[in-house]
Amino acid sequence: MTIAIDYERIGDIAVLKAQNPPVNALGQAVRQGLVDGIARAEREGAKAVVIYGDGRTYFAGADIREFGKPPTDPWLPDVCQRLEDSPLITVSAIHGTALGGGLEVALSTDYRVAVPSARVGLPEVHLGILPGAGGTQRLPRVAGVEAALDMITSGRHVGAREAEKLGVIDRVVDGDVREAGIAYARDLLDAGADTRPVGRMPAPAPVDFDAAHAAALAKGRGQLSPAQCVRAVQAACELPFDKGLERERELFHELMESDQREGLIHAFFIERAVAKLPELDGVEPRGLTAIGVIGGGTMGAGIATSALLAGLTVTLLEMTPEAALAARGRIEANLGGALKRGKISQDQFAHLTETALRPTTDYGDLGDADLVIEAVFEEMDIKKDVFRKLDEVAKPGAVLATNTSYLNVDEIAAMTGRPEDVLGLHFFSPAHVMKLLEIVVADKTAPDVLATGFALGKRMGKVSVRAGVCDGFIGNRILATYRTCADHMVLDGASPYQIDKALTDFGFAMGPFAVADLAGLDIGWAVRKRKRAEGIDPRARDSAYADTLCEAGHFGQKTGKGYYVYEAGKRAGVPNPEVMPLIEAERAAQGITPRDFTDAEIVRRYMAAMVNEAARVVGEGIARRPLDVDVTLLYGYGFPRYRGGPMKWADMAGLPGLLDDIRNWAAEDAYFWQPAPLLEQLVAEGRKFEDLNG
Ligand code: CAA
Repeated sequence: MTIAIDYERIGDIAVLKAQNPPVNALGQAVRQGLVDGIARAEREGAKAVVIYGDGRTYFAGADIREFGKPPTDPWLPDVCQRLEDSPLITVSAIHGTALGGGLEVALSTDYRVAVPSARVGLPEVHLGILPGAGGTQRLPRVAGVEAALDMITSGRHVGAREAEKLGVIDRVVDGDVREAGIAYARDLLDAGADTRPVGRMPAPAPVDFDAAHAAALAKGRGQLSPAQCVRAVQAACELPFDKGLERERELFHELMESDQREGLIHAFFIERAVAKLPELDGVEPRGLTAIGVIGGGTMGAGIATSALLAGLTVTLLEMTPEAALAARGRIEANLGGALKRGKISQDQFAHLTETALRPTTDYGDLGDADLVIEAVFEEMDIKKDVFRKLDEVAKPGAVLATNTSYLNVDEIAAMTGRPEDVLGLHFFSPAHVMKLLEIVVADKTAPDVLATGFALGKRMGKVSVRAGVCDGFIGNRILATYRTCADHMVLDGASPYQIDKALTDFGFAMGPFAVADLAGLDIGWAVRKRKRAEGIDPRARDSAYADTLCEAGHFGQKTGKGYYVYEAGKRAGVPNPEVMPLIEAERAAQGITPRDFTDAEIVRRYMAAMVNEAARVVGEGIARRPLDVDVTLLYGYGFPRYRGGPMKWADMAGLPGLLDDIRNWAAEDAYFWQPAPLLEQLVAEGRKFEDLNG
């Protein structure tokens, strides 16, 4: 068995090497190893101790898998205190990432040296907690309150050079991290340096903490941890160090007990689990160097931008030279944004736009592409025509992908003589910004084609979710159901504005009506027209008031008016006074007497509709696991991360109660509120969605 902390003696310097792959998380054995290592160094007469990590990183934090379980000795705060109290000179030598408990350990040593590529941070806020091993008390003492508040409430990773400027790192040195640590310790001993315990440094100067608390609350959209972090840093200014630590502990425990912590940690693990699919075990993806994109509208240009930024060459096909020029303009504008934000250099910008991007109007130019993504108009006949042509020019083994939000990928694949090479890649607009990618597997899609989809997603920095074929796949299918639920509530008496407000208060980035305005009301109108033409089930409730808005040319943000009115230059709108009279007329026409809804009922119904449809999506195998639904909603639909996703929310809310509500509501609308078989089964078996995550 590998020892978690390896002890080595180099003259009068003891070197402690952490060996807990992959990220040297501070699990129990590592914590114990640190305590034992420092004790041994003291006992055996060393003068200095260097701590560093084997492999890819210094300590990346506490071991998150231990959260929620009974704590085991020694606790990390005690380990940190033990290090700080040592009479020896202690040095942390940092490479990779010193995050969370990792940075807290580093702050408990006297000195810190890092390689230039190292990053440090206190990302606990993203896990719904706060730095609980002295980070909120020590960081403000070395970096000042303002910088500490910024780092702790944002959780951002700070590069070594910036950390040096902030006083968090003392020295940045090129080369081997172990050597850098030993050399620094040597220099300190030679210079007769003293220990420098951060906990004994003076309390930092305060700021307006009430204002900082209010700002953190507002920014967190209901997430508690950023605001609690402010209170913990406040304690560093107002209390002696040991009392500050106690206050930090109290606040830490409160957060540790919260559902938000559970939701955020769930989110952390599922976004790593989502790409792990048994069907991909041992399957090698096909090679990817050059890709083709068909269609250079907003979506196609976004996909092309994302591919270029991932280092792929892109042949972009448009119908006419003018359209190709316009597409080039869109891509240049997107890349210009990346240049402005410092993500690429001027030289890279020039290379991407002049060499890596190749606009064309000739299908034949797609012949070299390893993968071609079609992003043309969302109409089956147009897509089929594109795939027929693509089949003629694409090289053997090329992956052929359709970027569709709703359409049947099997039908599209059947247009080619190689359906095994076809899959759906559903990007979310703007495709160079949104992280979600639904990878849609058709009946005949080959496993290495699916693996290639995941490889592309990874290269583009996307969070990819496997989905099966159905109308809307995972995300849009569930969206259609909860959106319908919102429409029913409007007919029955709630206003779109009350619904949007209740849901943003719940934590959604936007409510469904503001989302509709953003996406364009014409999209929903087209879907309604298509569905009516196909024939709607007579038991389904329908309404026409939104059509009236569209007929008047009000399509939401892009026309300045929809459910809301948008002033030029402002993103948020104010309620459109024309909307409520249209709704009232619709209610009257349908003979509905409006009733009041509480915000709690709105949220409950909306969430129940979402979870019920999600249970169907999992039950039918469209999503392999509940976690695939959670990731989809978190990354593509503005679901509050601190609630973990709809399935996690449902598990925490209690499946039996949800099923009871759905059955009760079925008395008023038996068609819409049909319980999903999987939900019924889980309740009957006393299980949770989580049990299906594997
Ligand atoms: N605990 C347990 N496991 C962890 C972990 C942690 N702190 N950090 C990462 N891992 C695991 C991941 O789950 C993953 O496991 P699998 O391979 O089984 O999926 C593996 O380590 C590699 O992680 P990534 O795939 O994320 O690797 P990466 O190179 O992309 O990123 C990283 C590395 C930047 C360290 C990233 O993993 C990360 O951000 N980790 C979390 C860091 C963090 O939040 N630390 C604070 C912990 S809370 C704390 O410390 C509280 C306190 O004050 C007491």
